[in-house]
Amino acid sequence: MKRIMITLCAITLLACQSDGNRVTVSTFGKLADGRKADIYTITNHNGAMAKITNYGAIVVSLTMPDRSGRYDDIVLGYDSLRNYLDGNPYFGCIAGRYANRIGKGRFTLDGITYQLTINDGGNHLHGGLVGFDQVLWSAEPVIEDSAAGLKLTYHSPDGEQGYPGDLDATVVYLLTDDNELKIGYTAKTDKPTICNLTHHSYFNLSGNPATTILDHELMIDADAFTPVDKGLITTGEITPVAGTPMDFRQPKKIGRDINADYEQLKFAGGYDHNWVLNGYDGTFRKVCSLYDSASGRYLEILTDQPGLQFYSGNFLDGKRVGKKGIAYPFRSGLCLEAQKFPDSPNKPDFPSAVLRPGEIYRQTTVYRFSVK
Ligand code: GLA
Repeated sequence: MKRIMITLCAITLLACQSDGNRVTVSTFGKLADGRKADIYTITNHNGAMAKITNYGAIVVSLTMPDRSGRYDDIVLGYDSLRNYLDGNPYFGCIAGRYANRIGKGRFTLDGITYQLTINDGGNHLHGGLVGFDQVLWSAEPVIEDSAAGLKLTYHSPDGEQGYPGDLDATVVYLLTDDNELKIGYTAKTDKPTICNLTHHSYFNLSGNPATTILDHELMIDADAFTPVDKGLITTGEITPVAGTPMDFRQPKKIGRDINADYEQLKFAGGYDHNWVLNGYDGTFRKVCSLYDSASGRYLEILTDQPGLQFYSGNFLDGKRVGKKGIAYPFRSGLCLEAQKFPDSPNKPDFPSAVLRPGEIYRQTTVYRFSVK
């Protein structure tokens, strides 16, 4: 009996290893309090690879082929945990409990006003002083027939960063054999709260982050965007993109209009806005594409979310030295963050970000890579 069991185990192990999907783990480093963060290397049948740490649920690297089959890392980040701990502009993380900005860090829910931590001028950004990008998640490898990845969970206690309710968040990253990075989010709460999670990779599809993303061609399927004030807080208006530099309905080079004399671009120092995606009714649909004609790499984004923040790396200034010793120049990476609209808790006309006990917050977003 024992022998049969051992043989069965060995066969199962071999099956797992021989299906081409791999998840291996090693130590990434230690946090200030002595806890250990790991880094998981995930590969698919095609040879694409993702490295993800359970510190901040950060995608540290993501390699995808160009049109000649050459694999390059197409996200910005650091080689060591130390650099992430020393403060970083949300490279590759999961932002939460509320991704993006909340004006004055304040909101009222069921007649109670909550004050969140302030970390961006006078406002709350990406979950506050210590958001989900800076906590240690629990991690567990996931192996499926045609995908491999990581399930990450985090328990955010009642009152953390000022948010009400114990929130249990789960994020599943899957690298599929179709070269997709698929992100599934769920969360539950025990008190009424707000929840808006997103992924914050900085992409540079050229694979050379010493160059800018200004020649990448971007399409966003949105007829409107949400304008902001000087502090980048949404005004509550929904403005048509037609006839403005914000119009990405047809693929357009990011650099074409980025320096236009347009107040919204001046406020943000480039693009750093939320687009009101067409076709939002909870269905999963393609909302965005990004193309780098030099390498041929093509990214499509599919989501069930109402909004997409496009941030053109305006705060990168050539001072941050990332992977392989490359100092990231101005606009050398861009973020495409599927989400609820910024400051929704204070904007009753925006889709609600309220999560109540008994409900489940759900989001699915896919970054699909191919070549043209
Ligand atoms: C988000 C914000 C930007 C900036 C980056 C991080 O995308 O919208 O304004 O704060 O994160 O630097």
